[in-house]
Formats: sequence, structure tokens, C-alpha cells
Amino acid sequence: MEIDRRAFLATLGTAAVVEAMPSEALADALEHHMMETLDEQATGNELVIRRGAGSIFGAGGPSGARSELKKLEPMPEKPTLVDFFKSRFAPATHVLQSATDALKKGEKEETVLACLLHDVVLNLIKVDHGWWGAQMMEPYVSEKVSWGIRYHQALRFYPDPSVGYEYPELYNRIFGKDYVPLPYIKETYEFARKHKWYMEARMITVHDLYAFDPNMKVSLDPFIDIIGRNFKQPKEGLGFDNSPVAHMWRSLIYPDNPL
Ligand SMILES: [Fe+2]
Ligand SMILES: [Fe+2]
Repeated sequence: MEIDRRAFLATLGTAAVVEAMPSEALADALEHHMMETLDEQATGNELVIRRGAGSIFGAGGPSGARSELKKLEPMPEKPTLVDFFKSRFAPATHVLQSATDALKKGEKEETVLACLLHDVVLNLIKVDHGWWGAQMMEPYVSEKVSWGIRYHQALRFYPDPSVGYEYPELYNRIFGKDYVPLPYIKETYEFARKHKWYMEARMITVHDLYAFDPNMKVSLDPFIDIIGRNFKQPKEGLGFDNSPVAHMWRSLIYPDNPL
């Protein structure tokens, strides 16, 4: 089988990355590349970048461009939410900006926490991140907080002038100008719109909008006490408490494990 050496090396990253790779890793990568090329030839399909994988797995930004992966430090034996912010979600600029905006505008603690947590699951997975994100937080936060996280995803596509929320200009770039949300997103929006907790999700989208300011300086410090009061930190550590979502936290602790 013929291998296009340059195309193969380009899949690995920059020259510096390739240079630093141990030869076993290079051999593994080559084998993987050959398997993929064989599959491609067998099915006649062009390979694509799956855009739904989380940033810790190299998925990059919403444009789909891959980012270079950094080595991750090991996590403490009983990791807390703050540990995850420091060594897995960092710099977490977007969610910190959202939560800072909510705090400044005097939102209640549950809303501030929801803003702080609303997108952290993007480190694990991007597609349907509202649902994944809500599920990941559900055992540890109030029902309103996880409800808000679940529905913010669908609400982002629908304006609400009563709170000054407009369709985000950014979405024209990510999804295209004439994008129509899929039927399940529309149905979810219609359900949430009529729900008594509608505003729990809506306010996440309101503070989301102001969360892309490159000059706004943020830190986790103002949120430590809010986390302490509103996030039920399991004593065994996130990932090791046998909750139905412990594996999601573990996947972030050990993203380099092969299986
Ligand atoms: Fe989001
Ligand atoms: Fe967001």
C-alpha cells in the first residue's frame, strides 16, 4: 500500500510535534493511518473531521480546526470541581466570563453556577452539549441548574426580546446564514418556552452573549464560595463516587487511556 508521507505527517501536527514523538508512537500512528486509508479506499469515502469531539481530545474550536494538544497533569486522587477547572477546563475563559457577567448583574447563585457550568462539557463532547452537560452535572446540582444547562442549547437559536436576547451573529458564521435548527431542537425550544423554569435556561443564553469579550479579565476566585454552597462535591472525588455519570468525569481525568 502506498503512503503519502507528507499527508501522513500533516495529520500528526507541526514538525516540532512529530520531532518529539517517540518512535513507537510514530509507528502506532502510521499503522492507524494505514488502517484509515484502507477503510477509505474500501468504502470510497473521503475522511472528514468529526466536529463533535471535545476539546481535550483535540477537536479545536467551532470552526472544526484541530488544536495542538498539551500534555495534561495527573489529577488528585479525589478531584473536586475546582481541580477540574484548574487542570482540565482551564483556561475556561468563556464560562468564567459568562458567570462573571451573571454575578455583576446580580443574578441569584443558582444562575451564576449554571453559567459557570453551562459549557464545560465541551471539553468532553460538543454535539448536543446541553444534554450531555446537564447529565454530567445532575447528581451534584439543584434540578433548576441542570434544567437550565440542558435547555440553553436549544434556546440559543431563538430570540427573546423581553430579555434583550437576539440570535447570535456568531451562529451565522458557525452554522451558515440560512441555518434552520433541526426539528428536535425546535420541539425542545417549544417545550422549554412553556415551562415554569424557562428563565433558568434563558438567562444562561443572555449571559452567554456577553461572554466573548477578549479584554474581560476573569478568575475562578469569586466563584469558590458559590461552588461550595451549591455544588455537592462527592467525598470520594468526582469520577470515583459511583454516580451514574462518574465515567464522564473519569474520561476527562484519563483522556489518554487507549480504551
Ligand atoms: Fe452552550
Ligand atoms: Fe456558552
